[in-house]
Amino acid sequence: MVDGMDVAHEMVLWKVEPQCSIAEADDFERLSRLLDRPRVKIERKLSFDERSLSELSVTGNLRPVDSYDSLCSPGAGRSVLDTPVSLARNSFEPHPMVGEAWDALRRSIVFFRGQPVGTIAAIDHASEEVLNYDQVFVRDFVPSAMAFLMNGEPDIVKNFLLKTLHLQSWEKRIDRFKLGEGVMPASFKVNHDPVRKTDTLMADFGESAIGRVAPVDSGFWWIILLRAYTKSTGDLSLAETPECQKGIRLILSLCLSEGFDTFPTLLCADGCSMIDRRMGVYGYPIEIQALFFMALRCALAMLKPDVEGKEFMERILTRLNALGYHMRSYFWLDFQQLNDIYRYKTEEYSHTAVNKFNVIPDSIPDWIFDFMPSRGGYFVGNVSPAKMDFRWFALGNCIAILSSLATPEQSVAIMDLIEERWEELVGVMPLKISYPALEGHEWSIVTGCDPKNTRWSYHNGGSWPVLLWLLTAACIKTGRPQIARRAIELAESRLWKDGWPEYYDGKLGRYIGKQARKFQTWSIAGYLVSKMMLEDPSHLGMISLEEDKVKKPPIRRSASWTA
Ligand code: GLC
Repeated sequence: MVDGMDVAHEMVLWKVEPQCSIAEADDFERLSRLLDRPRVKIERKLSFDERSLSELSVTGNLRPVDSYDSLCSPGAGRSVLDTPVSLARNSFEPHPMVGEAWDALRRSIVFFRGQPVGTIAAIDHASEEVLNYDQVFVRDFVPSAMAFLMNGEPDIVKNFLLKTLHLQSWEKRIDRFKLGEGVMPASFKVNHDPVRKTDTLMADFGESAIGRVAPVDSGFWWIILLRAYTKSTGDLSLAETPECQKGIRLILSLCLSEGFDTFPTLLCADGCSMIDRRMGVYGYPIEIQALFFMALRCALAMLKPDVEGKEFMERILTRLNALGYHMRSYFWLDFQQLNDIYRYKTEEYSHTAVNKFNVIPDSIPDWIFDFMPSRGGYFVGNVSPAKMDFRWFALGNCIAILSSLATPEQSVAIMDLIEERWEELVGVMPLKISYPALEGHEWSIVTGCDPKNTRWSYHNGGSWPVLLWLLTAACIKTGRPQIARRAIELAESRLWKDGWPEYYDGKLGRYIGKQARKFQTWSIAGYLVSKMMLEDPSHLGMISLEEDKVKKPPIRRSASWTA
């Protein structure tokens, strides 16, 4: 459970290089600036060796963030065509796949007027239909960006952030309907005209996407990536430009606006994230809620406390407080909680209701009773009135750990569950996107008979190598790198040989996906990022936010209480 104080004290550190001892900004500092309180100076050793703010001494008024030149820039001056730093630095023989992966990643780079601006989703020459796999997807670029940042090549990431920011300002329409100003594209494409020698951009905000699905996750990933860039390079100037500040505010305006909601979670349509087809992932899906939480925390760390910024910071704090409470209380499922739900009474009216959402115990699916170990737990897929989606979704749970939406106990329990249910959730190819698969009648109703999402395939219980980087990050954060090593070994036994498929099919993930693209860029980048993080765990700071360890101040009774 969190309260406003907890969130206000969350630490956000601006730099990750372990060899640099630097002062860093944090949310508390940002709030202090907002409230004009003295600030806290933090010395950093390792990115995940975060200290509680309560252990730190207040040293008076510091500059908001230490001067830029005191932050070392790890890869300044490197070009996207150079050898990977990790290869040059290695004292041991790297896995042969690493070099292959870098070559493939570099081949996927997309240029706009001579500048690298992103990576193409897949370069599969054997595939008959290109569909939109020849585009730069915002979500797909994130692991590529992480790989480049970790390798000291921030330019492509900066160009990408600026290009997508520019696209955000386009007027977006579907038929006669105008989309919200803050919507970020799902993907974009660079068209080269060889005759005129010109490059033009084309973006898709959902108006061309199959099913016309809205990319709710794009804006969140954009904010998360902007923080990763800032943290990795120490270059605060990009995030502080009026354009970036406006971009952040526009994204937030879309999800912080008041409406009819009775919950702090964000209401979404099906197919609005990585699972971009109908899969019953509408309402309040875990993936979006976890990304929302993380993006709010990243935005809080980057917003400037000017008049507009301050207003947003206050709204963010209020929302984080409510969202954290809601998710940790109602989305969390472990053996005890399952047993409680199993014994729920229904039709309870009033504030005293225990079964607040009127979940009918008969709606609990049979599989969960065997699946739930005595040790372990996870955030369920979705919670709304009389509806709990008990399915496991890997991305949402990993992001919950990384954003510290999960409490430390919950994070440990998620890792326990992965270990206890290794065969189901990892099998022979990490990692199942969701578990279990929908089958039979339920599949026809929920997916609309989608032939791409048949059981244990694609989004319906398929195994996605890209998720390896998020699993690895979660493993490092929870101090269990051996789990990541085990998963990486599995990937290394096949991924390259199989031509970097997009996904695998089957209960154990043994088969290359029915319609999986080969040379899928995020499968390649996800592997590289996992390797680099294990090799140098300080990279974790780019994608992880520490939990606040500050104790709540004692509540003092006001005079009016005793009067
Ligand atoms: C598929 C995936 C989506 C991804 C896109 C490009 O549509 O479902 O998550 O962004 O391919 O790789």
